[in-house]
Amino acid sequence: MSEKVSRCVFFALLLTLLIDRSSSTSHSTEKAHPSPPPVTNSSNTTANIWLVDALKDIAYYLRAHKFNEYDRRYEPDAKLARREYYRGFPRPPLRSLHWEVHKYCEQSLIECVDYLRKRARKAGMRRSDDTTVVIQEQQWGENNTQQIEIVDKECRKMQQADDVQANPFEGPLERFQWRVTASYYMCWYTMKSEPALSHLSDKCDNFADCLNPDFGPNNGDDRANDAIPYSCAFYSFCPDPCCPIKHLTRPENCWDTPENPCFEANPPGQRECVVDRPQNTDFSDLILNRWNVSCKCREKGLEWSSFYGICVDIDECATGAHTCNPEKETCFNLPGSFKCVCKWGHIFNKKSKTCEPSKALTHLMLRKEEEEEEETSETPWMKFLRLFRAKSATRPVSVQTYLIILSCICNYFNKLLVH
Ligand SMILES: *[C@@H]1O[C@H](CO)[C@@H](O)[C@H](O)[C@H]1NC(C)=O
Ligand SMILES: *[C@@H]1O[C@H](CO)[C@@H](O)[C@H](O)[C@H]1NC(C)=O
Ligand SMILES: *[C@@H]1O[C@H](CO)[C@@H](O)[C@H](O)[C@H]1NC(C)=O
Ligand SMILES: *[C@@H]1O[C@H](CO)[C@@H](O)[C@H](O)[C@H]1NC(C)=O
Repeated sequence: MSEKVSRCVFFALLLTLLIDRSSSTSHSTEKAHPSPPPVTNSSNTTANIWLVDALKDIAYYLRAHKFNEYDRRYEPDAKLARREYYRGFPRPPLRSLHWEVHKYCEQSLIECVDYLRKRARKAGMRRSDDTTVVIQEQQWGENNTQQIEIVDKECRKMQQADDVQANPFEGPLERFQWRVTASYYMCWYTMKSEPALSHLSDKCDNFADCLNPDFGPNNGDDRANDAIPYSCAFYSFCPDPCCPIKHLTRPENCWDTPENPCFEANPPGQRECVVDRPQNTDFSDLILNRWNVSCKCREKGLEWSSFYGICVDIDECATGAHTCNPEKETCFNLPGSFKCVCKWGHIFNKKSKTCEPSKALTHLMLRKEEEEEEETSETPWMKFLRLFRAKSATRPVSVQTYLIILSCICNYFNKLLVH
């Protein structure tokens, strides 16, 4: 009887699995938009050219947000608003992600890039209109001042119009939500070290702000150096938790400002701050600006904690960096170090300098074991009840425990029926 039931359950499960499979495959074939060409490993395929081009456009459009946008949700006055998304993602984070960005970007980087580019290309202000990009592509120099002026005038006009209209979105507020969501995802893919993002093949140190009056087309910000893997993507999509400064000519300038999280813990010259990508791959923590950075720590036995923002004691016992013998010794964490002490039932032998089993205790333990063996004359059911009573007296019983108990009782009765 019970065998039949379990077989029935098994087939039902199998059936639901199969149905699930077939429905999910039919979903993926009904794509509403044409998919990009497949990306391969060789460098100059059409797919790769497509991807590199798309990423440049998206990176530009999101940099415009990172460096020039303000919080459209709460700031009533555009003139007084702080434009500091190079310091951190908007606080508080978005209450809801932009539904369309979320829909495509949670699937894969390629789906995400394909969608983002389509929207970014329809924007009122695009990468191809930007003065710094034109200067760079035309290789204009000091002899092209007049041309540069004309292009920049046009660029400013477009920028102003776009600030009000926010094409192709319903308005600046939707664009704000869209660009924040897109930055969340693109930054997250950067942290996950997606190979396509290692180099963007662009000079991405411009602020996507036409010809910035303070900084020219060659800002020389080393954080945007495309030769360093993931630099350009990080600079375009993520705030910089190590160096929340807009423009930087030399990395050393950053280490010696109090904005650097490693500033206080270390003396000058040892304040290097590093964002380790693999330690920042949690999407929900990322959008809350809960970054993990690493700093050096002056004292031995201390390590940097991003959570507390200070150097904290390394728990050698927890990290496994101790030398205690797990069979005979217990590890105790101490400030800056650890100590091994003999486990219960062991005593320290001064001659051999190791922990050895205590003879008196071994004797006692053997006796206890014998007693326990005697106890096994009770039936499993009685034993279960005894143990259960002992357990439930000390702590509340969870739902899981109840389930286990229920199944035990069922089993017990099952056995009774079979015999
Ligand atoms: C490129 O090739 C390597 C192995 O040579 C492979 O691990 C990687 O997944 C490939 N990347 C893509 C995008 O196909
Ligand atoms: C790909 O194209 C670039 C220029 O666009 C060229 O420098 C490079 O040699 C090409 N690589 C291959 C493998 O054809
Ligand atoms: C600018 O023009 C002058 C004279 O026509 C020429 O000597 C100089 O090399 C030019 N500079 C550049 C950077 O092309
Ligand atoms: C930073 O590290 C903590 C602890 O390992 C982890 O919980 C958190 O998700 C990490 N932050 C990010 C942004 O991944």
